[in-house]
Amino acid sequence: MTLELDDTWEDMRSAALQAMSSAHAPYSNFRVGAVLETPDGRRYVGCNVENASYPVTMCAERVALGSAVVDGATTFGRLFLCADSQEPAPPCGMCRQALAEFAPDLVIVSEGTAGTRVEWRLADLLPAMFRLRPPASDGGPA
Ligand code: THU
Repeated sequence: MTLELDDTWEDMRSAALQAMSSAHAPYSNFRVGAVLETPDGRRYVGCNVENASYPVTMCAERVALGSAVVDGATTFGRLFLCADSQEPAPPCGMCRQALAEFAPDLVIVSEGTAGTRVEWRLADLLPAMFRLRPPASDGGPA
């Protein structure tokens, strides 16, 4: 049994699949799409952007995060992820740290190509995250 989605998650799923189709992934052929949502419903999309110099590659989650931050969004409630793997892919370690800077309580739903979905909480994927200051959601500076 896979996770059922309400209409709001379905909208995020559609946007993530569309973002995934824009992925620049000629080296791995592993496309990823991400949609990051603020608590008031603003959404930001990302796809992975690979580079011939492999470490220059940007993950879909951090592309979405950068787009959000430049728009002034710094708190997030939900993330939808889709990727070219049969099983739902969790965010990589670097993306976990990047997202936790802003949204340690983020709810993540990820979908694989087989259509199954999994839900995680970022705090469970990244316990004891590295931090220099409290997150904005805990009353710290944005
Ligand atoms: N990738 C993401 O976009 N997000 C992740 O959380 C893990 C990996 C991308 C980076 C690279 O383009 C491809 O997946 C294979 O690692």
